[in-house]
Amino acid sequence: MRVLLTGAAGRLGQTVLPALRTRHDVRAVDLLSGPGVDEQADLTTTDTCLRLFDGVQAVVHLAANPDPEADWEALLPANVLASHAVAQAAKDCGIDRLVLASSLQAMSGYPDERQVRVEDPPRPANLYGATKAWVEALGSWVAATSSTTVVLLRIGNFSPSVPDPAVATPRDVAAWLSPGDAVRMVLAAVDGRVASGQAAIINGVSANQWRKADLGDAERRLGYHAEDDAFAG
Ligand SMILES: NC(=O)c1ccc[n+]([C@@H]2O[C@H](COP(=O)([O-])OP(=O)(O)OC[C@H]3O[C@@H](n4cnc5c(N)ncnc54)[C@H](O)[C@@H]3O)[C@@H](O)[C@H]2O)c1
Repeated sequence: MRVLLTGAAGRLGQTVLPALRTRHDVRAVDLLSGPGVDEQADLTTTDTCLRLFDGVQAVVHLAANPDPEADWEALLPANVLASHAVAQAAKDCGIDRLVLASSLQAMSGYPDERQVRVEDPPRPANLYGATKAWVEALGSWVAATSSTTVVLLRIGNFSPSVPDPAVATPRDVAAWLSPGDAVRMVLAAVDGRVASGQAAIINGVSANQWRKADLGDAERRLGYHAEDDAFAG
């Protein structure tokens, strides 16, 4: 399958790109250059996205400002405008599968001790989380109004190694997403079966014994089987 990966020069993009390339014909795009990046492009306009999506069956959209403390000016281009441009172009091009990076920050308004569920609606407690609720709304819009199937990734705390409990918050340990599970999550989101009409959600956390978010039905249906555990010692 021809897959377009955005945010390919970023931390998650660089982690998933080699594995995606073992299964699919991947075109890797980012504002910045980086290993394996095929093209530098700014995704804030629909015209650029329409050009990039020509002949593509699946889009994995990771490009964004990932800073939970970012202000409106810093969030507007990538998180608001580019997300819209990607969603509009996916609809217009008749892309088969659209995968959008959301965040567990979209759920940060729930009490810390509560395990959030796939079925829970977004409740952001910062502006970054609100832009991810916007991304989820765009995904729902595309799923409801086109033949494109949509998967939303509510990504937790992606980190190359288990967060050190001496410095990380309990939430950040419980929300850990390992590199291996990030790869498994993205492959499942691209290849898994998704019904049309409603966006499917994957909580992007590892198989942590105590986890900030559940690994529910959507994961089982899509085939995301997390393996790593931040509490395994
Ligand atoms: N890292 C985490 O723990 C985490 C947690 C939750 C959600 N996420 C989400 O996952 C995705 C990837 O996160 P990351 O940690 O790899 O971030 P990152 O900052 O390392 O990578 C994001 C990439 O997007 C690119 N980009 C930004 N604006 C762009 C634009 N207008 N056009 C094209 N490319 C643009 C950047 O150049 C960068 O390489 C983001 O959507 C982020 O919000 C990440």
